[in-house]
Amino acid sequence: MRSGTGLFSGRPSELIGRQVAGYRIESEIGRGGMAVVYRAHDLRLGRTVALKLLAPELARNDTFRRRFIHESQVAASLDHPHIVPVFEAGETDGVLYIAMRYVSGSDLRHLLDVRGPLPPSDAVRIAAQVASALDAAHEHGLVHRDVKPGNILVAEGTDSDHPEYVYLTDFGLTKKSLSLTGFTSVGQFVGTLDYVSPEQISGRPVDGRCDVYGLSCVVYETLTGRPPFQRDDDMALLWAHQYDEPPPPSEARPGLAPAVDPVFATALAKSPDARHDTCLAFVAALRAALTAAPAPPRTDPEPDAPTPARPAPPRPPDWAAPAFGPDRDRSGPDRP
Ligand SMILES: Nc1ncnc2c1ncn2[C@@H]1O[C@H](COP(=O)(O)OP(=O)(O)OP(=O)(O)O)[C@@H](O)[C@H]1O
Ligand SMILES: [Mg+2]
Repeated sequence: MRSGTGLFSGRPSELIGRQVAGYRIESEIGRGGMAVVYRAHDLRLGRTVALKLLAPELARNDTFRRRFIHESQVAASLDHPHIVPVFEAGETDGVLYIAMRYVSGSDLRHLLDVRGPLPPSDAVRIAAQVASALDAAHEHGLVHRDVKPGNILVAEGTDSDHPEYVYLTDFGLTKKSLSLTGFTSVGQFVGTLDYVSPEQISGRPVDGRCDVYGLSCVVYETLTGRPPFQRDDDMALLWAHQYDEPPPPSEARPGLAPAVDPVFATALAKSPDARHDTCLAFVAALRAALTAAPAPPRTDPEPDAPTPARPAPPRPPDWAAPAFGPDRDRSGPDRP
């Protein structure tokens, strides 16, 4: 056990302007269940990075530490255009950190909160980029386990044919998977359970098809404005993932072609064997369903003119900017 008097006590503002390893912390970008992400300046290379600092209580857990270090090494070894590159991972003053490419833009969680469901063509474009990243990871034997809108970073694209450029982040660094596999003592779930697969919940072995499930939950929400299962409490939600049938997305979002329903029925199957083998196979099936079948006459909101599904939560100032166009930082690193 380490003392709590180190560099980082968990209050993020105390670190602004300070140096952690070779990085000067500039501002907080966001925080999740286990870490705080800062924009920071790499003093050695003179570039902007995203610096993720793990919560001190997790850094004190030896099992977690070993796993974190292992996972950051695996994540750093992944070289894919749609996976956020990890520059360095290490420890300083008892704080575990990861330095990675700073992605200037937004994340899909924020986009969905602000815009509501996206037009199907946008949803498929985003899904295809995430799917290619996931399938590449699976080929290296790595399962993400926490595919969710907050881990999908959306930057401005290159042209009108590629309006956005998508990065997947946080491979294996999930408190949820740690909880679900007994790594934390109390078994509490931190974060969302909206995208967790049945086999993760029941503690069965997971492979890439758990990410097919997670991705299809994310795409379901991207198209309909809500995840496949919504329940009043965590236990009911876990039960639903394991035993309930999701509402067909064409019912959840009038105007969506019913041809997409069997695609989601497959991707969200309780048994991994019944799902698509790969994430790209799921996206290909979805694309085919959307292009082959015309949508029925619309009765209610026009899918290409989404309405916000829920009020946008407050964000740090540099996240308040629109996802694309002039945004929080034009001086960030270039995309590949
Ligand atoms: N490389 C990056 N560049 C820019 N912003 C990032 C980067 N990585 C993460 N972020 C932002 O920081 C926020 C916090 O990330 P973090 O991974 O800690 O939380 P989360 O994904 O919301 O939840 P969880 O703890 O379950 O992963 C994210 O919502 C994301 O928008
Ligand atoms: Mg994350």
